[in-house]
Amino acid sequence: MATRVWLITGASGGLGWALVSEVLGAGERVIAASRNDSPLRPLATAHPGRLLTVSADITDADALRQAVDGATGQFGRLDVVVNNAGYALAGPFEELDDTDLRAQFEVNFFATVNVLRAALPYLREAKAGRVLQISSLAGQIGAPGMSAYTASKHALEGLSVSLAAELSPLGIRTTIVEPGAARTGFRADWASRLPTGGAIPDYRPAHEALARSAGAGGQIGDPARMAKALVALADMQRPPLRLPLGSDALAGIEKSRGDQLEELRQFALLSASTDHPDGF
Ligand SMILES: NC(=O)c1ccc[n+]([C@@H]2O[C@H](COP(=O)([O-])OP(=O)(O)OC[C@H]3O[C@@H](n4cnc5c(N)ncnc54)[C@H](OP(=O)(O)O)[C@@H]3O)[C@@H](O)[C@H]2O)c1
Repeated sequence: MATRVWLITGASGGLGWALVSEVLGAGERVIAASRNDSPLRPLATAHPGRLLTVSADITDADALRQAVDGATGQFGRLDVVVNNAGYALAGPFEELDDTDLRAQFEVNFFATVNVLRAALPYLREAKAGRVLQISSLAGQIGAPGMSAYTASKHALEGLSVSLAAELSPLGIRTTIVEPGAARTGFRADWASRLPTGGAIPDYRPAHEALARSAGAGGQIGDPARMAKALVALADMQRPPLRLPLGSDALAGIEKSRGDQLEELRQFALLSASTDHPDGF
């Protein structure tokens, strides 16, 4: 039987690179979409003929489609799609630049749309396949100074929940993956782009909290172990709709859902009071 082919975005570092390495180590094949293929070259050398790197800009739908068509044509199939590329724009909402906010959605949301549009025809034709949407704990909760990132990941989750229901009858399974903090370049990346100066004084505490968080090390999540979990997920007959990764994600989501349920019950009378008195 031919080995599976994975399409993985954001493959040059962090979780993406770890996943490419894990999948190749398992004997499968990878189409890696990346802006920077140099960290992938040693993997291509170690696994000849099993890694194709495409350097298309994932925010350019036409270029991406051509690149995916070309690479899928070379391998002859596509089985697992992993929308992994992403970054965080941090800063209090009122201080966010509109262009930066839209750029956040271009990468974290619309690039995912581009990837899905390029890849889904192959999965539909096969009536099989997996879609792994790399969201975040931030796709389930909010935090001061993270409105842009959490909005983009909530949008990704909203798309994915509906998409999962559309694709399931076609034999395609979708899972939203929600990592907690992982030891990748992710935090350093957003910390390096934190706004300096011009802060609205009211938001100084939010800036201080962001600076503390940016400087904190020791994230609990191990990208290599997360990559193993993603491969296990792709192997499951009945994968979950959502999978948090890391005990921090698990605890954060559990607390958030618990708080939401408590609030729902507390205000249930007011919620139900808007029904027509004559019922249905
Ligand atoms: N690390 C964490 O704490 C954490 C927590 C929750 C969720 N996540 C999510 O996990 C995914 C992987 O992140 P990571 O931790 O591996 O971070 P990372 O090491 O910074 O890698 C993210 C990758 O996304 C791509 N990317 C970043 N900015 C981009 C841009 N402006 N345009 C296009 N591509 C861009 C890059 O890939 P190329 O250079 O190859 O194009 C980059 O290697 C992201 O979706 C992130 O939101 C991370």
